[in-house]
Amino acid sequence: MHRRLFLKGLGVIGVASSVVLPKIAFAGDMLDPMGSKLAGSLYYTKDAPGRWKGKEETHVPMIERSGNSIEVTTGHEMDGYVHYIIKHILLNENLEFVEETLFNPEIDAPISEHDITGLNNRLYMVSLCNKHDAWLNMLTL
Ligand SMILES: [Fe+2]
Repeated sequence: MHRRLFLKGLGVIGVASSVVLPKIAFAGDMLDPMGSKLAGSLYYTKDAPGRWKGKEETHVPMIERSGNSIEVTTGHEMDGYVHYIIKHILLNENLEFVEETLFNPEIDAPISEHDITGLNNRLYMVSLCNKHDAWLNMLTL
């Protein structure tokens, strides 16, 4: 029997369309990473600091916009390679990588500047600490 006819006969084709629904719901959840249940476990935010509660002030990247650029600051110490901010990562509204700034903890402060020309609606910034993981913030454009 032809495979497609066989599957249709079993009603599998109808089942396949309903299987897509959870995937769509998951995608929607990922497009709101600030409210996702991954916040507080896989990464951290001001409102979901998870196991790092109390570290919000020194790890959430603060974003200031000036025209088509942003300045990002993490109010974190740079204690050599012992404890420092490794990088800032800029993501677009679809959580796609745009660019990153790597820091040398022996000479840099955890401050970066980014051109946001071409970004729409919102952007996300990740600040990565070598001890306290990844912290996410968002800016609505
Ligand atoms: Fe830290």
